[in-house]
Amino acid sequence: MRRFSPAGVLVAAGAMLTLCLAAPAARSAGGGRTTVSVSSFGAVGNGVADDSEALVRAWRVACRIPRATVLLPSGHRFLFSPVTLQGPCNTKLTLQIDGDVLAPPGMGYWPRARRPLQWLNFKWLNGFTIQGTGTVDGQSTSLTNHSPANVSQVWNWHWYVSGVKPTLIRFYSSFNVSVRNIRVTNSPQCHLKFDSSGGITVKNITISSPGDSLNTDGIHLQNTRDVDIRSSSIGCGDDCISIQTGCSNVHMKNINCNPGHGISLGGLGKDNSLACVSDVLADHINVENALYGVRIKTWQGGKGTVRNVTFSNVRVANVATPIAIDQFYCDAGRCGNRTDAVEITGVAYRRVVGTYTYQPVHLACSDARPCTGVSMADVRLSPASGSAAGALRRPLCWKSYGEAAGMIEPAAIGCLQRRDGFVTPFTEPFNYTC
Ligand SMILES: *[C@@H]1O[C@H](CO)[C@@H](O)[C@H](O)[C@H]1NC(C)=O
Ligand SMILES: *[C@@H]1O[C@H](CO)[C@@H](O)[C@H](O)[C@H]1NC(C)=O
Ligand SMILES: *[C@@H]1O[C@H](CO)[C@@H](O)[C@H](O)[C@H]1NC(C)=O
Ligand SMILES: *[C@@H]1O[C@H](CO)[C@@H](O)[C@H](O)[C@H]1NC(C)=O
Ligand SMILES: *[C@@H]1O[C@H](CO)[C@@H](O)[C@H](O)[C@H]1NC(C)=O
Repeated sequence: MRRFSPAGVLVAAGAMLTLCLAAPAARSAGGGRTTVSVSSFGAVGNGVADDSEALVRAWRVACRIPRATVLLPSGHRFLFSPVTLQGPCNTKLTLQIDGDVLAPPGMGYWPRARRPLQWLNFKWLNGFTIQGTGTVDGQSTSLTNHSPANVSQVWNWHWYVSGVKPTLIRFYSSFNVSVRNIRVTNSPQCHLKFDSSGGITVKNITISSPGDSLNTDGIHLQNTRDVDIRSSSIGCGDDCISIQTGCSNVHMKNINCNPGHGISLGGLGKDNSLACVSDVLADHINVENALYGVRIKTWQGGKGTVRNVTFSNVRVANVATPIAIDQFYCDAGRCGNRTDAVEITGVAYRRVVGTYTYQPVHLACSDARPCTGVSMADVRLSPASGSAAGALRRPLCWKSYGEAAGMIEPAAIGCLQRRDGFVTPFTEPFNYTC
């Protein structure tokens, strides 16, 4: 057995291998599926031994077989060092996670040079599914069991010295991918990331990490189109679902976010970059115990457009700021004033109801590129019980043009400016296209 060591990243490429090598370990089941269990390749599954070589070998075999399943059987705890599982593979490959899967503890605090950008790295896959009843545990938010023992020192060290921590599960350049039923927990950073991908379905998954774990986004999307995330529960220390530039046609439905920072588009346009996000629908969303409910954040100086975004049937409870657009986003403390901004147009809030603890609505749009086509209908927000009146802020609508309709309670929330013949916001034409 190979003990775990934070050495290299294993790569399983589908292309260069011989099927005869391990054919006896692949077993055909009914329905034309072939199951390839990591246990047949020497995986120990005791939570201590490093089973990543077994995973890679099982993957290489399954990758060659149409409709194959790589099985991580239940009743075991598989510890894997960082690994890349890549295609192209035969169609309809499935990773069946029934046992528990563990990342090396404390991976986010390895010396910078050896720290991976992601732990399970899937790339170049087409028609791939991850499913099962197992838990994928990043082992990174409870730091008491391994050195360095002093948690506050760890966080400080991370914050000042160490830079990026690894994403737990990442898909790159993959299409028609489905992730369902699994539980993902305690990531050092983002839990589930899709980059430059499309045709993504995420269903019935649970993500859970403590509310005070830094930068632990639940699901993070960038340059990814045609996404359907539904019937899932996400608790983490950062954005519940984060939608970055290059995303379009993203649907989210029946999502619980608790705790965390809510559903977020952005930060977009950092370092004067171009950002394009369109056709986003978040429907039947519950956000509890969170910093924000539904938010769009852009950096000053960015370019591009956010268009056609709908947040409907959003319930908030104990959320600091349920509705936010911030075109002055700045997480580094010091950002210079810029005139350019990512344009935001066509944002609808329909039936956003519940309680807040700081400010019900915060729409801070750019002077040069005001937000247009913002609409609110049936938005009812009241202070959470026990909120001290002195801690509450009035709603803000700055350079936000649109219309409020239906029930708006209290009325001050509907502070949008109407766009009539005399107050048409001035926007210069862009010299690029999204
Ligand atoms: C959702 O996932 C859980 C945990 O894996 C599983 O027990 C349950 O059957 C799944 N529900 C559906 C509808 O698939
Ligand atoms: C942990 O670190 C903090 C800050 O450096 C220090 O105040 C505290 O005493 C340390 N605790 C232990 C148990 O070493
Ligand atoms: C994804 O699946 C759909 C339906 O099965 C298919 O039409 C489409 O071509 C697939 N996309 C890719 C990139 O393979
Ligand atoms: C807006 O986005 C939604 C969600 O993707 C989509 O269904 C709808 O067709 C889009 N509307 C327009 C006018 O593009
Ligand atoms: C940016 O603009 C605001 C509002 O006009 C002003 O209060 C602030 O001092 C400016 N900041 C810098 C760094 O110029």
